[in-house]
Amino acid sequence: MEELRKIIEIISNLAILIRTSQVHDIKNVAVVNLIEKVTGLINNFLKDEKILQIDLVGEFFYANDTRLKYSIEHLLNFDFLSRELKKRNIGTVIFKNMLGTEDTKTFLKAFLSAGFSKDPLKTMLDSLKGMTSITVDRLKRVKEDEALDMRKVVKKTYFNAVSFSKGLMNKIKTKEAVNIKKAKRIVESMVDLILEEEQLFLGMTAIKDYDEYTYHHSVNVSVLSIALGQRLGLSKKALNELGLAALFHDMGKVEVPIEILNKPTAFTEDEWLIMRKHPQWGVKALLTLKTPDPVLVRSSIVAFEHHLHYNYSGYPKVRVRHEQDLYSRIVTIADQYDAMTSSRVYSRVPLPPDKALSILIDRSGTQVDPLLLKFFINMVGVYPIGSMVLLNTNELGIVYQSNPAFPDRPRIRIIMDSSGRRTDTTVDLTERDAEGRFIRSIVKTLDYTKYKINLAEYLM
Ligand SMILES: [Fe+2]
Ligand SMILES: [Fe+2]
Repeated sequence: MEELRKIIEIISNLAILIRTSQVHDIKNVAVVNLIEKVTGLINNFLKDEKILQIDLVGEFFYANDTRLKYSIEHLLNFDFLSRELKKRNIGTVIFKNMLGTEDTKTFLKAFLSAGFSKDPLKTMLDSLKGMTSITVDRLKRVKEDEALDMRKVVKKTYFNAVSFSKGLMNKIKTKEAVNIKKAKRIVESMVDLILEEEQLFLGMTAIKDYDEYTYHHSVNVSVLSIALGQRLGLSKKALNELGLAALFHDMGKVEVPIEILNKPTAFTEDEWLIMRKHPQWGVKALLTLKTPDPVLVRSSIVAFEHHLHYNYSGYPKVRVRHEQDLYSRIVTIADQYDAMTSSRVYSRVPLPPDKALSILIDRSGTQVDPLLLKFFINMVGVYPIGSMVLLNTNELGIVYQSNPAFPDRPRIRIIMDSSGRRTDTTVDLTERDAEGRFIRSIVKTLDYTKYKINLAEYLM
């Protein structure tokens, strides 16, 4: 444990050093002090461990083959370093043989100049040639066939959760005993997978099923909340609780008559009065379950608060403005985003993901927590998975994997070529031509609901 704490401190300070040297000269006293600090920290580690190998795989850092988990105070530093490494196509940095401050300085200079190079990795390797204490290696892509297998596991876990949430609502309706242990297991398996395969899981939430909105919605809100919680550095135990509370957030809808719930046209004022009672009904449903469990208390708080809004302008109306639960504020964002991008909700037409985000931005500080929203946007990207985009090559595509290092350059499934023919190829918008120019860029987003596009076909 002690070693992991040391490693996290090393990576954090390395990130601070790089960021500082991007704004100050390398001779600046702040930079000089940081070079000494980082060198000292690394040597202190190498004294006992001989080698420190840091790998960036997908979104995660590993040190000497152990996945690093860090708290929120380190999040920005880790995010920053991950972006800078990806920009340079570097996936591995190895420290060994004790370093001198000159070694750290050489590494820093190489790293900075690689940032302006057309072939950053080569620049970096050339500059570090002959150096034995610090070496780097290329960023490894997660293998395609491995990705395919993971896709199957993610899909199975997701649909498992959907069918569970369907059964759950029916049981609550008929007052049967609910298997809380099973609910916990399902959420735990989602948390585990989201920690490893966040992008694939977010992709599943972008597919909207029209017939079974309520069940998909519960699962989507749970997935989005867990993913956001992960960004905030919540512990695994906390993520399990959050995921469960999110899965149960609309449980009160079991009391809403099915004719209202599935009404294809707009609600009347009376119908709205009934709909707006579902937070209170949720508390009742959760606290009177035949199988009580402590986690249901926290879930009932989330059920009660999820439409309250950040500034209490929502419902139910409360007399005392107590501080809202963190989980409620997370679920509110996930809930609004999923509701807006789904079709079967209060008879609305689904909004394209980027439109939904811009509406959420309008609601920042009034309906939703502004800081949490920032993390949420960082997570789903400028062009969320499922967005339909027009490229400068006149090709039409669907965003299928976001790229935190380049938020405006996600991976795209091209579904129509420039002459209007249907195709299906995957491209990465960070690809450049021989002159170093980007091959493709996004010109604008389109509303996929206007094109007869089956998102599931491209995202699964
Ligand atoms: Fe709700
Ligand atoms: Fe909801």
